[in-house]
Amino acid sequence: MTVTLRPFRDDDADAVAEACGDPAIARFLPFLPQPYTRDDALAFFRHRPDDLAVVDPGTDRVLGSIGSTLRREGVAEVGYWVAPWARRQGVASAALNQFATRLFEQGLERLYLTTALTNGASQRVAVAGGFIREGIARGSTRSRDGGRQDMVVWARLPGDPPGPSARALPDLPGGSLTDGVVTLRPILEEDGPSTYQMRSLPDVSGRSVVGTPMDPAVVTRQCAESVSKWLAGQRAEMTIRSAADGTYLGEIMLYYAEPFLREAMLGYSLTPQARGNGYASRAARLVTDWGFEIGMSRMIAGTAPDNIASQRVLEAAGYHREGLQRSRLPGPDGTRIDNVQFAKLRPAAT
Ligand SMILES: CC(C)(COP(=O)(O)OP(=O)(O)OC[C@H]1O[C@@H](n2cnc3c(N)ncnc32)[C@H](O)[C@@H]1OP(=O)(O)O)[C@@H](O)C(=O)NCCC(=O)NCCS
Repeated sequence: MTVTLRPFRDDDADAVAEACGDPAIARFLPFLPQPYTRDDALAFFRHRPDDLAVVDPGTDRVLGSIGSTLRREGVAEVGYWVAPWARRQGVASAALNQFATRLFEQGLERLYLTTALTNGASQRVAVAGGFIREGIARGSTRSRDGGRQDMVVWARLPGDPPGPSARALPDLPGGSLTDGVVTLRPILEEDGPSTYQMRSLPDVSGRSVVGTPMDPAVVTRQCAESVSKWLAGQRAEMTIRSAADGTYLGEIMLYYAEPFLREAMLGYSLTPQARGNGYASRAARLVTDWGFEIGMSRMIAGTAPDNIASQRVLEAAGYHREGLQRSRLPGPDGTRIDNVQFAKLRPAAT
């Protein structure tokens, strides 16, 4: 994708007003007026004369906007949006790469941006633009409802290679894993209600180290933020669905807790209706094989000693029992319980 960056002109005002009326822009750029009018666009051109229009090089049509603010000497923050009619064509990634290169040529020493944890599209733009995820700035931005929200901080320095930046957990090949019976795909915001229902079941929350979920809104937010953990290389959270009709069956996670050891841990839960059909074993096999494909040397999983169903799942997926870790897991009422540790090793190259 090639884009041109040029100053805004007053005859761009209608296109800018139309673009900024979009719900995703309202959600993720909470400081923009809503509803957004032609006059708001003209005022924006006056107040921020250095912000640039991202346009189609052939037609000069407005596709988006990009601009930066100097925060201190040598350090600037970049912001951007792309009009709904130009999304998912690489416009933001191309504009960000071009803009960053230009600023570094002018002597900038650090360019950073912040994204909401739920803004998967913008976090992907940051990765595509060669920005490195640095951490979470808690409560750093005001949200449209007047509260404060956490933001992910991404930065690129002049010596960093151009994008995309490296990821410890890549996307699933083609977006999902399937064996024709179950399909696994990343957890999304829309999975919130089913996920809450399942995580609230006593035999699911009772076996979870994080306990019972607080309320549906919290679980829906966790689902929406799942993309952030995946892009950070911390964990890949997937929903398990019937390959035939998409029925929700449960969830499975790969936790990448030990990058230096190239060891990841598996965790999973199914709804009561889905149990007893081999779905968890199928999902465990799919995620384990994917783990080895993306470079894991060891996949591990643990269960409480009395969780026979889960131990059968791991054996069916080719895991071997390695031992008993005493008092590893939090039990009910402040007690501790033992963990039966299972592992599967990366198959030797043939
Ligand atoms: C974020 C935004 C600028 C992305 O613009 P875009 O031109 O569609 O982005 P690109 O086409 O360059 O896509 C970059 C990557 O994000 C992915 N992506 C884009 N939109 C996505 C979406 N809605 N869901 C999942 N992935 C998405 C693309 O597939 C691409 O991935 P890849 O690099 O792995 O191939 C646009 O969605 C937008 O304007 N959102 C509202 C305003 C906003 O969030 N601004 C940034 C605030 S921090």
